[in-house]
Parts: sequence; structure tokens; C-alpha cells
Amino acid sequence: MTSKELRKFFLDYFAKRGHKIVPSSSLVTDDPSVLFATAGMQQFKPFYLGQDSPYGKNVASCQKCVRTSDIDEVGDHSHLTFFEMLGNFSFGGYGEDFKGEAIKLAYNFIFEELKLSLQDSYFTVFEGDAAVPADKESEAIWGRMAGSRATIQRYGRSDNFWGPTGEVGPCGPTTEIHYKNTEIWNIVFNEYYQGLDSSLKPLAQKGIDTGMGFERLLMMVQDKGTVFETDLFAPIMGKIPGADMRARRIIADHIKSSVFLICDGVLPSNLERGYVLRRILRRATRYGRLLGLPRDFLMPLAETVIGIYREVYLELAVNEDNILTAIHAEQDKFEKVIDEGLREVKALEKTLTGVSDGANDPRIVAELSASDDMINRLFDLYQSKGMPLELVFEEFDNDHIHYDKAGIQERFNEKLKKHQEISRAGAEKKFGGVGGEVSEEAKKLHTATHLLHSALRKVLGLHVKQMGSDITSDRLRFDFSHPAKMTAEELVKTEELVNYAIREDLPVDKEVMSYEEAIAGGALAFFREKYPAEVNVYSIKGYSKEICAGPHAERTGDLLQFRIVKEESSSAGVRRIKAVLGQVK
Ligand code: SER
Repeated sequence: MTSKELRKFFLDYFAKRGHKIVPSSSLVTDDPSVLFATAGMQQFKPFYLGQDSPYGKNVASCQKCVRTSDIDEVGDHSHLTFFEMLGNFSFGGYGEDFKGEAIKLAYNFIFEELKLSLQDSYFTVFEGDAAVPADKESEAIWGRMAGSRATIQRYGRSDNFWGPTGEVGPCGPTTEIHYKNTEIWNIVFNEYYQGLDSSLKPLAQKGIDTGMGFERLLMMVQDKGTVFETDLFAPIMGKIPGADMRARRIIADHIKSSVFLICDGVLPSNLERGYVLRRILRRATRYGRLLGLPRDFLMPLAETVIGIYREVYLELAVNEDNILTAIHAEQDKFEKVIDEGLREVKALEKTLTGVSDGANDPRIVAELSASDDMINRLFDLYQSKGMPLELVFEEFDNDHIHYDKAGIQERFNEKLKKHQEISRAGAEKKFGGVGGEVSEEAKKLHTATHLLHSALRKVLGLHVKQMGSDITSDRLRFDFSHPAKMTAEELVKTEELVNYAIREDLPVDKEVMSYEEAIAGGALAFFREKYPAEVNVYSIKGYSKEICAGPHAERTGDLLQFRIVKEESSSAGVRRIKAVLGQVK
């Protein structure tokens, strides 16, 4: 079977059994708790919680996914950053025996339709723990289906429990089919809802969420040793010459992710999704340089990717020009970075060895050690010029320069780690309180944040808790727990309450006390923060009392006027408000 045939075979199988076939969603989803769609269930998340599904209760799909958590393993026989996930899903449509129904559908597909060998397979089930009972039912069902030939293994939370995606949402125990020692099908019984405090509550409606990595299944069906030998990869691999198999596979995977991400509207940048794309594209470019591939080698590869999938994902053909233009531009930019970096490397070689042009010069025997100076210069090259260390090493090798590779790499990594810790600490500080140097505007926005928090608790209820906050010099952003979109009326009421407090021109009082005393006195705390023994409590009489590092405006009147500019979803169960302060008109 070709990939096209297998994909269709799967979807037809479920269509014939009463499932509506739903097209893949975009990789860029409207669930802000994830950067990209990472599973088939992503687009169906609300239907597990009781929201009506416009597709009916039983659906199946082939979903485009990007997962970067396994990026370091790409290059082995089966890990990928872009993959397709086949799945069938049910939102209470499989009846009382929902586990039996889901397992039967999977079993018949794998062993009767595809005729994979039961001898080479085994099944796993959840073994049970303090919160969730052992899945004896699934174990019995597999036993009934496969008889004495069934091998069943029991595992705990880390293996046989799935979800939620993001912080809250549907989740539950899983049962899996493994074939030739590779997990191929994961069947999730969405029986629980995980809340913000990590507690599990039983869901009213029992959901099914299954996922089967398409490339892996294809590898099994086409009887190949790696996914890179299937027809989803062979044409790309054929266009990447070189002996280094790992490098070739990384390039093939990364160009595919890049094509699909750009197709769904992501462009290389230094932020969030764009940053992931930039990293993937640059990594591919870097491996191409190491393999000695020509400049612009990614273009024919991107065209090949589009060729493989254009009849399946019609958006690829529509966006072909944009995809190729974006890849060309980013590769070109990075090649220039590398050229500039290589010039610096030459200069570095010159000062470190005292020889003007190191190329092919047998006289160079100087050992470049992992000296402080050396590490600082290489780090600077990486940090400010974007030059990857591997390419520096490559250049040293070309120039026959002796150097302590392991030592340099180790000290470079140490420095990188330290640097990342410092940036992370900076980011965390921003999250909890304002801290550091703060503008007058930021102080006012900070006070407005407290007023907003208390207003939301009055308008929406006491379940509202701060989940995050970010203040720039011209706006505040406040994330809070609340299960639904706010209505226009709720927004107006909230705004009015804050503006009322502003018009009263109340003083913002600060007291220092122990954390226990503050909590006992009813001060709100941001639950993710670790507080010191002594804390500041800022109060605005009649409105707000919060533990907070500060600083704040002196009086609420300084805020002039408060306006909500946006209310949107931040992640499942978490809303986000953006607001500004302005002149009274
Ligand atoms: N959501 C589960 C997974 O990603 C099953 O689809 O494995």
C-alpha cells in the first residue's frame, strides 16, 4: 500500500462504521496552551466537555502535527518533528461499552484489515494508582479479542495515562497496541477532567481519543526498517546526498516541518512559533553545510515535500509560492550569518595561531585549548553573530587546526547554560511582580491589575484566580481562571468597577507582614509564586488586598481611566484580558 492508499484505507474504515471524517485542522490552533497541534484530539477538545460537536459524536481524522519535544531524537529510525496522526474519536457516542467498542475497532483494523501479525504484537493497560483504578476492563477485552495469544503488560501513569494537553482538560487511562516493539496505536479513555489544582474529576460523558502515528504505521505496512524509507520520505532522502545518515534524516524531517508550518501561516521570527520554525530551518541549513550541500539546497527539497502531499493537503498548492519564498529568504539570511561567522573564525585562527592564513598550512600545530579567552570569543560569535559552534569546528578541521574539541564543547555548554539561567530568572521575575526599574506608567498599570483582579472576582465569582500577569509601559495583560468567554455585559461591569475605584482617588497602602498573617487577613496571593517569610501587602480600601512585590501608584486617581481592549482565551479554562490606561475625555 502507498501512503495515499493507507491513509484512505484508514479513513474509509471508520467512515463505513458511522464516523464522520473531519479534515486536519491547521497546525496553528486557537488553543493558546500549545504552540502547535500535537495530537488529533486537539481540535475536538471542547466536545469532550459537553459542547455539542457539529460533526456528530463519532469522528475520525488524519491530523497534521508538530512536536518539538523529541527534536534531539530525530535521526533515529522513527522520531520526527512533523508527522500525521490517524485517529478515531468519540464524544459519548460509543455507548455503555465504550472501551469494548474502541478496542474492537482498533483490533479489527490492525489484525483483520491490515493483517499485521498478532504474534509480533502486545498490548498495554493502566495498572492503577491511588487516584485512578486499574483498567481491568481493557485487559479482559484484549483477552477476549486475542484469546490465549494476547500478551498484556501493565504500566503506570507515565506510560498508560494521557493528557491533558496544556494545563487543564480531558485526560484518562490508555491502552496501547505495540507492534514489533514500537507503539503504534494509543487509545485514550477520556474519563476525567484535570483541573488547575491537578485534581481529577470524573467526566459526565465518557470520551474516546485514539492516536496512531501514520509514518510508523506506514513503515510497518511497507515493511521498512525506518520511516525514512517509506514513500513519505524516500523522494526527499534521494535528493540529499552524503554519508552521514543522521544529518540526512534531520534535514528531511526539518524541511517537512518547515513547509507545513509556513503553509499554515508561521514565518521565521524570534518569538514563539516563528522561533521554533527559525530554529528548525537553521538547523537544517547547518546540517546541509556540514554535508557540503550547495547553497539553496532546501528549495528543491521543499518542492519535493509539496509534491508528496499536494493532493492530500490542498493548502500546500495554494501556498506554494509563499512557502518557497519564505524558505529561500530565511536560508539566505542564515547563509550570510554563516559567511560573516566564518570570516570571524579566520580572524580568530589568525590571532590564536599567529599564522595569517591557516588553510592547508602544515606548519600549524598550535593546540587551541579551552582557555577563557577562547571560550569567550566562541560564545560571543554564537551569541551575537548566530554562528553555531559545530560550524566553527568544521572550519578548524578544514584548516587542519588542532584543538581540544571535547574541552571546548564542554566549557561552551557550561557558559550557555549559565546564560540561559540568567535569562530565565529575568523572565520569571517579570511574571510574578514588576520588580527592578519601573516606569511611572508601569506602576499605574500594576495598580490597575490589582483593581481588575478584584473586579473580576466581584463580577464573575470567587473562582477567579490570577494565572499570570505581564506589564509593559503601555498595557497590562492579566490571565485568570474562568471557564467561559466573558459576555459584553460582564466586561462593561468589570471596567465600571475599576473606573469607580479610580474616581474615588483612594490611597494605595503598603504594609509588611508575615506571609501567614497576610493570608489570614484575606490578602490574595499569586499561587504559583514562592513567597519570602516577610511580604508586602498592598491594599486599596474596599477594593483590593494582595501580596505583591510592588511598586504601585500612590493613589488610584493617578490611573485616570481604565479600558479593556481585549478579552480572549489564554489556555483551556484560562482567560486573558489586555487593558490600557488613558486620559479622561
Ligand atoms: N491524544 C493521544 C496521543 O496523542 C491519542 O490520540 O497519543
